[in-house]
Amino acid sequence: MGVSIKKPRGMLDIMPQAIGDIPGIDHWQYLENKLHELASCYGYSEARFSFLEHVNLFKRSIGDVTDIVSKEMYIFPGSDELALRPEGTASCVRACLEYGLIGRGALQKLWYLSPMFRRERPQKGRYRQFYQFGVESFGSSSIEAEAEQIAMLWRLWKLLDLTDDIKLEINSLGSAACRESYSKELQSYLLSLGNKLPEDVIERAKRNPLRVLDSKDPAVIDLLADAPMIDNFLSTEDAKHFDNLRSVLQELSIPYVINRKMVRGLDYYNQTVYEWVTDMLGSQSAVAAGGRYDSLVKTLGGDDTPAVGFAMGLERVLLMLQKKDKIQSNSPDGFLIVDNIGVSQTVIAEKIRDLCPWIKLSASASEGSFKSQFKKADKSGATVALIVGDAEFSKESISIKFLREDREQIMVPMNDIAKFLGEQLL
Ligand code: HAM
Repeated sequence: MGVSIKKPRGMLDIMPQAIGDIPGIDHWQYLENKLHELASCYGYSEARFSFLEHVNLFKRSIGDVTDIVSKEMYIFPGSDELALRPEGTASCVRACLEYGLIGRGALQKLWYLSPMFRRERPQKGRYRQFYQFGVESFGSSSIEAEAEQIAMLWRLWKLLDLTDDIKLEINSLGSAACRESYSKELQSYLLSLGNKLPEDVIERAKRNPLRVLDSKDPAVIDLLADAPMIDNFLSTEDAKHFDNLRSVLQELSIPYVINRKMVRGLDYYNQTVYEWVTDMLGSQSAVAAGGRYDSLVKTLGGDDTPAVGFAMGLERVLLMLQKKDKIQSNSPDGFLIVDNIGVSQTVIAEKIRDLCPWIKLSASASEGSFKSQFKKADKSGATVALIVGDAEFSKESISIKFLREDREQIMVPMNDIAKFLGEQLL
């Protein structure tokens, strides 16, 4: 007997039914449809990028000493080192530059919904293959760009009835120069603590001191209480940008808290950063995150182009919706049962679909007994069974049995079937 082959750890299969903590396809389609509508309502156009990119793209954008680039990428060795993309922003900028879609003050607003890959330790809400819905807007240095995207997510949480479960945290990292001088000051504070800090934290403080602010270790969190804070390093212009954004959020009645320790795990940000967090998912609290990244386009070879974006993890939102039992399943409307009349099930099903083009109609696609077809109809979750036996066939009619309600079965002439089902099911 052969050895059974399973999917690699942390990768994702999405099936009609839930698999482990990954919901079934109905849930994905429900959320994806909402996201498509949302993005186009805000004037964003969809783009689909290459899954593989040159490793250097991520080194230059996300940063060499981030966890994502230093530990989590799937890299294919070879002369042209390629990696499965761990996020979408770098690919989006690369593609826009490659096809001349950004620069010279043009406004460009794009969205994507696609799998990303990071070799992290898998757990509930954290996978090695995960789906992100991301939006990126190029060409605006105004806080309106941040405000629009935050408002877009707030609208989504309202639509999904999640506003009580998700909290917005915002911060400003200032310009690259502010961040640089803050980073140095924080580093000397951290290194002055000597071996009060664990060995690995000292190492992190040497390589990327801002990352220490993310620490979950209670002892490190205590020691950070006296650490220098980024707001003291912001220029007047950066502080004004942040205050203006806060006023707009207030005007939009979008609640937020300032988290001065939030620095994000990617190096390309400046000024505004934000995360939408929940406590419904244990340690995987970030549901969506983003911010401003005004120097990335130039770093990757383009003109100076201000940019703002965010990405949302679909699995995390779906886990929240699942916990709240929010999504109705996408069962068929009807299940066709044909009982031994010498006419093909498919021929009858096609006739019904011609008359009633909106119907989601399923059938057993085999010639089982009446009883076994009924069992299948029931299991399919269909609202009604459409039955064609001798009596119905001779009268050019169909009997309708309501599978989820205690109602009398009714025979309907084929010519009236669209009207009848429309009234009952739509
Ligand atoms: P990020 O914070 O690395 O940002 O990821 C954004 C979201 O992706 C997270 O808040 C989370 O919901 C989801 N996510 C990340 N890693 C995993 C994982 N291993 N499993 C499941 N979900 C995950 C970015 O990727 C930036 N590109 C966002 C951005 C766009 N900034 C500007 N534009």
